[in-house]
Amino acid sequence: MTEISPGLENVYIKYTELTYIDGDNGIMRYRGYDINELAEKSSFEEVSYLMLFGELPDEKELSNFKNKINNNLKLPDYMKNILKNLPGEADSLGILQTVLSARSSIELNYKYSEKNDKELIPEILGNVLSIVSNIYRIKSGKAIIDPIPGKNYAETFLNACFDKTDDQKIDAIDAALILYMDHEIPASTTAALVTASTLSDMYSSLVSAVTALRGPLHGGAAEGAYKQFLEIKTPENVEPWFKKNIIEDKKRLIGLGHRVYKTYDPRLKSFKKYADKLSVTPEQKNILEIAKKLEELGVKTFGPKGIYTNTDFYSGIVFNAIGFPLDMFTTLFGLSRISGILAHITEYVEKQEKLIRPRAIYNGYDKREYKK
Ligand code: CMC
Repeated sequence: MTEISPGLENVYIKYTELTYIDGDNGIMRYRGYDINELAEKSSFEEVSYLMLFGELPDEKELSNFKNKINNNLKLPDYMKNILKNLPGEADSLGILQTVLSARSSIELNYKYSEKNDKELIPEILGNVLSIVSNIYRIKSGKAIIDPIPGKNYAETFLNACFDKTDDQKIDAIDAALILYMDHEIPASTTAALVTASTLSDMYSSLVSAVTALRGPLHGGAAEGAYKQFLEIKTPENVEPWFKKNIIEDKKRLIGLGHRVYKTYDPRLKSFKKYADKLSVTPEQKNILEIAKKLEELGVKTFGPKGIYTNTDFYSGIVFNAIGFPLDMFTTLFGLSRISGILAHITEYVEKQEKLIRPRAIYNGYDKREYKK
């Protein structure tokens, strides 16, 4: 009998040379390199290049790639107008989705070709840096700007958001952008692949991905985890809160559990390191203490079922300490993930060119007589 696989669990739809995950042992690598080592030693654009082209760039390749990204930091007027004219309460990720969607509308007579699409990628990376930093700016009541190129993507981005920043925060956002860049094919990347498999354009595929990123079971988890810490308020309240919400009301503890990992998410190590380094104010230290206590309790309770902390448990603390409000967390994830999604789209379309078209087993009515 044909059976369905709910949530497409254990269904494989592509081969990939991009990201290796060993969920039982908590190992994750991009093109063979350990994720935490890349986060510590490389820049976002080096790792983007690695994902897209297969090898870390030499000096000349890196400088060309960076120049192409930097040449695309100035947004066209129609994008700036969309950014200015959406209502003030618009969701940050929704704004990103809308601007990308507007860009896709002018991909006329689009036909996939390896050359054109790889050329388009630095344009997308430059545009997206500018869109996301300006989303932060308009939501903070600041004017839209054209970002000025800094020493790397992370510095350009933070300077565009905050007008000035420091090296510790640049290192942290650079690492976060690398750690979130790819994760094999979760919901958002799969959504992009479905669209790309129809040979639709890159921007339309990204719109599909961004919409799938929004929910709290996926991209919204960093925001969800951080909201829990705010609701708990004090380290003393962790235990009573956990007992009431998680044990009695059976709510899910956001930031715990993963479809693939049955142990700690390997990216957690770096995020925890930056959360420790950047939490300096009494409020930040309080949140960090709440998080650590909650993690301990969560892992003690759910660890025996293979449910451990995932990367989103601590990433919000890092984003907040850098200066970003809750509403930006999923959008920062999006900024990073777009690079990985582009690499997957390229890999899928170049190698396989197979339309993704699963089946559903019909279990509705048999033939019925039509009557009003
Ligand atoms: N808190 C409490 N119970 C949990 C949790 C959790 N965070 N996660 C899973 N479970 C339980 C769940 O209740 C179920 O129990 P039972 O078998 O008794 O009904 C069992 O574990 C299996 O859960 P599932 O939802 O069927 O498994 P899944 O593989 O679909 O779950 C998940 C993956 C991420 C949706 C889930 O762990 C979850 O909801 N976590 C909280 C949200 C979260 O942190 N999401 C971020 C994921 S990492 C970022 C990404 O890659 O997108």
